[in-house]
Amino acid sequence: MTVQVNWPDLRAAAVEAAEYAYSPYSRLKVGVAALVDDGRVVIGCNVENASYGVGLCAECTMAGQLRLTGGGRLVAVACRSGDAELLMPCGRCRQIIYELGGPECLLDTPRGVLPMSEVLPDAFGPQDLP
Ligand code: THU
Repeated sequence: MTVQVNWPDLRAAAVEAAEYAYSPYSRLKVGVAALVDDGRVVIGCNVENASYGVGLCAECTMAGQLRLTGGGRLVAVACRSGDAELLMPCGRCRQIIYELGGPECLLDTPRGVLPMSEVLPDAFGPQDLP
């Protein structure tokens, strides 16, 4: 099944997801929304911790929701702050998106919509494991 990406809706879903953030330390609310290849949309928000280093990025909780609601492959991803500013996934989260969406998964970036192959070039991935 080929799914159409409704970018305005996906971006709005990311802003909405940021409302659920638990970010008392950074005060940055992060939301992410991803279109899955079966047409559903999964979301995530950041969940921080008093032990700062163990906080979860929004993409991590989105990955959990993807698996908990039926799996599938990520087709398109948008990340936003609670103020609707575009945010780029951190390096670790790019790797997570790459794992679950592959090189063709689309990401909303300040340079426009780009495939993960451009956002994480020469990525280490499942293809590198024996
Ligand atoms: N954050 C995310 O949720 N996703 C990213 O890709 C970058 C950073 C969160 C982690 C932390 O709660 C806050 O943003 C400030 O770093």
